[in-house]
Amino acid sequence: MQKKEKVILIGLNIKSRLIEDYQDSMEELKQLAETANLEIVQIVVQNLEKPNISTYIGKGKLKEISYLSKKLKTNTLIFNDNLLPAQARNISDLTRCNIVDRTELILDIFAKHARTRQAKLQVELAQLEYSYTKLKRLWKHLSRIQGGIGFRGPGETQIETDRREIRKRTSILKKKIRVIDKNTLIKRKKRSKFLSISMVGYTNAGKTTLFNKLTGEKHYTADRLFATLDSTTRSLNLKSDEKIVLSDTIGFIKKLPHKLVSSFHSTLLEVLKADLLLHVIDISHSDLTGYINSVNTVLQEIGVEDKNILCLFNKCDLIEDKLFPFLKKKMLEEHPDAIFISAKNNEGIDVLIEKIEDFVNKMKREMILKIPAQLRKLISFIYENAEVLDDKYENRSNEQILKLKINKQLLSGIKKQIDDYKLKEFFNR
Ligand code: GTP
Repeated sequence: MQKKEKVILIGLNIKSRLIEDYQDSMEELKQLAETANLEIVQIVVQNLEKPNISTYIGKGKLKEISYLSKKLKTNTLIFNDNLLPAQARNISDLTRCNIVDRTELILDIFAKHARTRQAKLQVELAQLEYSYTKLKRLWKHLSRIQGGIGFRGPGETQIETDRREIRKRTSILKKKIRVIDKNTLIKRKKRSKFLSISMVGYTNAGKTTLFNKLTGEKHYTADRLFATLDSTTRSLNLKSDEKIVLSDTIGFIKKLPHKLVSSFHSTLLEVLKADLLLHVIDISHSDLTGYINSVNTVLQEIGVEDKNILCLFNKCDLIEDKLFPFLKKKMLEEHPDAIFISAKNNEGIDVLIEKIEDFVNKMKREMILKIPAQLRKLISFIYENAEVLDDKYENRSNEQILKLKINKQLLSGIKKQIDDYKLKEFFNR
């Protein structure tokens, strides 16, 4: 087995921040470190009014940490927040350790978990964009200190060279990702006649477990953060024979930098285009409201507006029987349509499927379509995919008159085929 790298975790408890928030984010940092396969040898905490502008935590504390790192034979320090480049450099000078901040740790996990070409490109782009912001800030910081005078030396050249290299690679990656985006859109277009549902949620909430239950797939699930980085799409068959497309996607996390979110644009495309979002929430989590809010914030950031969102409280099996009714009542007050499930134990899945069927029905409306009788393939497609309430043949116009219950996606796909046919007829005259 590969030897684990030893690390020290460092948290700053700022007085103005709620203690629960701080404890939660430290707990999450521990999980992130474990997911990254690191061995935590010590956790160091400092309470301050505000972060130290040049060293993030106090210099005295850093000296203590430097001594500790030698004693514990580690030279990697992981910080619970994102550091300014100057802070990272000063800390490294004082402690002689490698400095990793929260985003860098997340990116390291992404890099380890990326399997497909798309995920790998997206992670590399996110890493480069993050290091670019750091260089930019470093550049600003240095030019302020040096006043811009006498700073035309190797320092500037190196930073400029690095920035140029990053820009070059970033633009290559963006081009490659654009090609993938295009292909994703083409594939999506093919499926666009079906309603689509996308699962979103905090990392480790149980999205993939539920996805597997609903589609009969066997995708990798694990009690670790960011097990899924790609978006997987499969069809979900309902009792009503309605074909629905369901997709699983990357989990969200608190303090996710904006750049990082936009790098995953292709993966998140499914979320943006979905007709319904299933927000999967781990009900056993201590900071439930905080987690729900942070997912909603990311959704806003990626441009999700006016979408139908159904909250699914998962992992209900982990809640004590005595406590469950109170928690359920409280959550229902805030999310009246919520469903309570255990994806692992198959509990509540039938209720969820019924809710999805209701949603599908609500999206449908009754209408009459006149289809040229020659379009036999289209007519049989309609029979396969829509609810046909009545069917008459009109001799005079040689048209099939179908009374349907149909959703707007399917309807626009059918109308397009009829329009294409009429256009051909027109030109063939
Ligand atoms: P990421 O891909 O990391 O964002 O995670 P995810 O949301 O896809 O979660 P995943 O399905 O991988 O599940 C995370 C862990 O939670 C796994 O260990 C699952 O077995 C466990 N899990 C999922 N659903 C339930 C549940 O209903 N009850 C319990 N007890 N555990 C669950």
